[in-house]
Amino acid sequence: MAERPWGFWTESKLDMLSAYLPAFTTASKKAPSTVYLDLFAGQATNVSRDIGRPIEGSLLRALQTKPPFTVVRGFELRHKRAQSLQEAFRAEFPNRDVVVHAGDVHDALQPALAALTEYRWSPTFAFIDPDGVEARWELLEALATHKARTSTKVELFLLLVSPQIVRVVNNSNNSNNSLGPDDLHHREQRVTDLFGSTEWRPILDGRQSGALDAERTRDELTNLMRWRLEKTLGYGFTHTLRLTNVYGVPLYDMIFATDHAIGDKIMRSVYQKAAERFPAMRQEARARRRDRKELESGFNPFFTHAELAQHTPLRAMSPISTFRRFRRMARPSPCRCRIPGPVSSSAARSAPIGAESDGSSPRWSWPPTPLGSSHCSG
Ligand SMILES: C[S@@+](CC[C@H](N)C(=O)[O-])C[C@H]1O[C@@H](n2cnc3c(N)ncnc32)[C@H](O)[C@@H]1O
Repeated sequence: MAERPWGFWTESKLDMLSAYLPAFTTASKKAPSTVYLDLFAGQATNVSRDIGRPIEGSLLRALQTKPPFTVVRGFELRHKRAQSLQEAFRAEFPNRDVVVHAGDVHDALQPALAALTEYRWSPTFAFIDPDGVEARWELLEALATHKARTSTKVELFLLLVSPQIVRVVNNSNNSNNSLGPDDLHHREQRVTDLFGSTEWRPILDGRQSGALDAERTRDELTNLMRWRLEKTLGYGFTHTLRLTNVYGVPLYDMIFATDHAIGDKIMRSVYQKAAERFPAMRQEARARRRDRKELESGFNPFFTHAELAQHTPLRAMSPISTFRRFRRMARPSPCRCRIPGPVSSSAARSAPIGAESDGSSPRWSWPPTPLGSSHCSG
């Protein structure tokens, strides 16, 4: 299978997954079994667009997790991809209970969950990683009700393309308002299916009237998804973290939902660490991109941008902080990084725009932390 070229933000997203999964299976050690579900499975490996190195896909990362998951299930629309995943995993993990369902996950999830009835008591984690707006709310509902007789629901780690959503339905974004009524209706239905509700409409109205800027619109859409996870599906904790591209343009938000205080705590730390690593990853990706362009244009520099980037601090330091650094070297103490914490909440704090507020929910801390906004105070 041809590998897909991925940006460094995808690697960051998958690194968060890799960091969380062992914590999940370790925390679940007392349970007789654990389950991992990958609703948009993709391929076993892909390749980093800027760095050129292979990036292992989510399902492979789940299978490599230690302590291991008892049961691993993947869902992949494209039959060839699903088949090649299944063959690769049978060869590499012959003794593992791993099945990749080929076809639309909206058709395959319910029967697959029904076949896992004996694992209804098992700690279960689901990764929902679509390319765009193709995941429908019914998937989240099915996952949230799968373990109906236990006190905790399936944990969710969900990619929401909040920046794309407005583009999907905002007719004024299309040249000459070119979407016909059927086309527009179809697109609006996709967004309604994504949220399982039409509560996104007041947000779009706000954007179209100019009351909301682009960033606030993205924030409100992500807020709506969190609100529904907490209020409609009953999740106890949700987190979100925004990932941006090499130029800092927002791409998507990763939303995590759990009923476990321990899951909440671990994911908070995973997000924090990702936020620390992200600026360096972006710097390396930008440098590699510039090197590639220069090489293509025939320029052969003495030092590559990637080499220079490795030795360049992410921010120039003011003389006073350099002075402080020297003082600290004389009196060793760990470098304390001031990282704005990812937004996390133990309860929903903000009713979506247009919703009746019962007055009991104060506004939550918002917007989500974009990855890369972290900085080290020296
Ligand atoms: C972003 S990729 C997933 C990447 C994967 N999680 C990884 O880390 O390697 C999204 C995948 O979902 C698949 N997909 C899209 N719509 C789907 C659907 N309705 N059901 C199942 N898979 C779908 C696409 O073919 C694509 O391979």
